[in-house]
Amino acid sequence: LLAGLPDRKPDPLLALLKKFASNERLDKIDLGVGVYRDGTGRTPVMAAVKSAEHHLWETQDTKSYIGPEGDPSFVSLLTHEVFGEGTVTEKLAGVQTPGGTAALRLSAEILAHDKDRTIWIGTPTWANHNAIFGTVGLSIKTYRFFDPRSQAVHVDEMLSAFESAQSGDAILLHASCHNPTGAAISKEAWSAIAEVVARKGLIPLFDNAYQGLGRGFVQDAEGMLIVLNAADEAIVAISCSKSFSLYRERTGAAFVLGNSATDLNKGVANFAYHARASYSMPPAHGAAIVAAVLGDPGRRKLWIDELASMRSRVSEIRTALADRLSIYAPRLSAVAGQEGMFSLLPVTPENVTHLREVHGIYMPDSGRVNLAGLRIEQVDLASQAIGELL
Ligand code: LMR
Repeated sequence: LLAGLPDRKPDPLLALLKKFASNERLDKIDLGVGVYRDGTGRTPVMAAVKSAEHHLWETQDTKSYIGPEGDPSFVSLLTHEVFGEGTVTEKLAGVQTPGGTAALRLSAEILAHDKDRTIWIGTPTWANHNAIFGTVGLSIKTYRFFDPRSQAVHVDEMLSAFESAQSGDAILLHASCHNPTGAAISKEAWSAIAEVVARKGLIPLFDNAYQGLGRGFVQDAEGMLIVLNAADEAIVAISCSKSFSLYRERTGAAFVLGNSATDLNKGVANFAYHARASYSMPPAHGAAIVAAVLGDPGRRKLWIDELASMRSRVSEIRTALADRLSIYAPRLSAVAGQEGMFSLLPVTPENVTHLREVHGIYMPDSGRVNLAGLRIEQVDLASQAIGELL
């Protein structure tokens, strides 16, 4: 059995966490895994989350099973918070999942039910997307979305890829705060995607993992809503890891958008079937926290304010970094117009090794940087170290 298994390397992003932890340098900088850090370099538990946990400790009276669909009150509160009160919300049904990754995996499972379906993925994308969709046997086609050298977004190539897709194919879209590029697309581009989705009968699958860390919680859903309003059927995978700072609690949700209660029930039943066959039921704690935050006006307001201050810290770092890096490479002024925690720098894997070994600056070989890993006083030093390689 074991000798015949394929060799598997640890996930490079997660391996970087260990490498960083084992370096004893005091001035080391972690720009690797996508985790928010405050101005002191910590990833604190949000005050709204602490308050919700306190409330749960006082009121929770059982740890009995909930079921593969998870907590319906969490799903309902999250639906209204993310999608608002328009017609899209009425056409959605969802389940709680262990993080955004499981939401994507359940989505992949139901998409893969049709063996002829292809999923179209822009490059670059979150490294785990290919593993998730490949594992279930979906055929994957790619198109160029972003070029780190020029920092240009290729909406034209994305649209022409969608034109060549077959009806019923899925297209993977990042709802906002694109991972790994931070590249944002215009309202006109979202409308053009919506038009081709509707005309060709494509199934948009949104990966929505960073809502609230871009332009604002409501604003970060605007592009997605334009497309969902036009789509006949769609899927949305949501992560609460970043928006609620709940990373290790594995909290997320998968939604289907459809045309009738019968279809939606079928979608949810298929999510539940695949959940039962893999992890049986999602862990309860994170979702109970989110429900206790969104369901209580005081805690919800606290969460909105905390998320706003996280967003403004990342945006301050973004502006400062773009300003300094553009001294070395003017095209990197584009970093200022990107959104969320990431940007993708035009560095080589050799540059990345140099930055790690000489300057104690950690990032994946792709050159993706998590801006939240920088403290404002480190921006000059990091920009100089990176800039000299550009
Ligand atoms: C990231 O891209 O850094 C995060 O989504 C964490 C992960 O699981 O890869």
